[in-house]
Amino acid sequence: MRIAIIGTGYVGLTTGACLAAIGHEVTCLDSDQSKVETLRAGRVPIFEPHIEEILEEAHDRLQFTTLYEEAIPRAQVVFIAVGTPPLPDGSPDLQYLRAAAAAIGGNLGLEFTVVVNKSTVPIGSGNWVESLIREARGKQPAEFAVASNPEFLREGSALHDSLYADRIVIGTDSPRAVDVLTNLYRPILEQSFIAPTYLARPEHLAAVPLVTTDLASAELIKYAANSFLALKISFINEIGRLAERVGADVALVAKGIGLDSRIGTRFLQAGLGWGGSCFAKDTSAVVATAADYGLAMPIVSAARLVNQQQRERVVEKLLGELKILKGKTVGLLGLAFKPNTDDLRDAPSLDIARGLLARGATVAVHDPVAMERARKEQPDLCVRYVENAEQVAEASDAVVLVTEWPQYQDIDWEAMARTARGAFLLDGRLFLDGARVAKAGWKYTRL
Ligand code: UGA
Repeated sequence: MRIAIIGTGYVGLTTGACLAAIGHEVTCLDSDQSKVETLRAGRVPIFEPHIEEILEEAHDRLQFTTLYEEAIPRAQVVFIAVGTPPLPDGSPDLQYLRAAAAAIGGNLGLEFTVVVNKSTVPIGSGNWVESLIREARGKQPAEFAVASNPEFLREGSALHDSLYADRIVIGTDSPRAVDVLTNLYRPILEQSFIAPTYLARPEHLAAVPLVTTDLASAELIKYAANSFLALKISFINEIGRLAERVGADVALVAKGIGLDSRIGTRFLQAGLGWGGSCFAKDTSAVVATAADYGLAMPIVSAARLVNQQQRERVVEKLLGELKILKGKTVGLLGLAFKPNTDDLRDAPSLDIARGLLARGATVAVHDPVAMERARKEQPDLCVRYVENAEQVAEASDAVVLVTEWPQYQDIDWEAMARTARGAFLLDGRLFLDGARVAKAGWKYTRL
């Protein structure tokens, strides 16, 4: 099928790459000329495992453009995957969605086209997009339907999550659109495509379930899924606080409850809590949307509060250990909001660094991939960037493990303890073997 994708961020580029990989003809559009040139030159503007390989393999079926008149008229399906970043009041900024819908409306061809919202958008956006397209068309005829097809991929495993999805959700009032999108996704639904060598199909995955709904339900599914995952994390972090007081081990508690299949073991990793572009934005949108209807969302609100408190607890624990932060140096291992990405949006590291700086401490930081981006995106963050974990320790009175990069697992803690200014380690992700680190000469504590 002929597909157009508006927006080449994580969602747009991954979707484009995967749809081309399973055989469709894809045109990716971005208003940013330099991004398009980068992609045309075979380079990738985001950090995501295997994205280069899949783009290279699907090269013949992929095009990049800044022009709507090139991408839209021939497309049978148009995906909108533009950013909806939070405005200062927490509500999503819909200017890119509005612009995309209007431009699509102005360029639709005469064939039936399905316009799909893949961005996470406020409930009701499907209807809004439809009205924007109609408005842009004016009196020109067009046959189109709008659908919501929320994205559930995680950064760092975006391709895996797209090709081997847990489910595909299609929300629309048009049966014809359901047919088109079912055909589009058939190779994934039936798992009939040839798996890339670097991304093996999970054993036992024979088919991916399809959930078809109305527009509003699909839009709410996205928010409800992210809210539920967020509150699962906050729940275990709240239990973690109690565990600490009563002398229990929260990791064992998580294992003990997670093996109950009704609960499940995933998203019960206690520690610094969630960051990233999605959970904070989506839980905030849920609370704000409910407020529009006079509804409180006490559970989602509490999950947000607990998450913020986890970051503050780092500073509190350091205060407890170092007593005075003024004049001390704290080292942070990891800046990215999670491993395998250089994404710093809502990263706990930033709040922690700011909290420490505000109390007069010096902050030394290391991250295997995110330092360049941090320098660029956080010019006012007065931290010292250092080359490796060893240099973090040398400079610091205390070290906090903020992001669980696998390479931090291999650190020679004994050598580092010898050169560290203060061998106090706060493990913000409950990631390290505490006994081993303690044996290496560190005072080891978990958040
Ligand atoms: C999240 C969802 O997992 C995706 O399904 C969804 O598509 C995406 O948001 C989105 O809406 O676009 P993502 O933000 O990329 O994906 O990352 P996750 O792997 O979900 O991690 C989110 C945060 O939760 C990270 O900071 C991670 O460190 C933290 N986390 C995760 C925990 O603290 N504990 C856990 O057990 C799991």
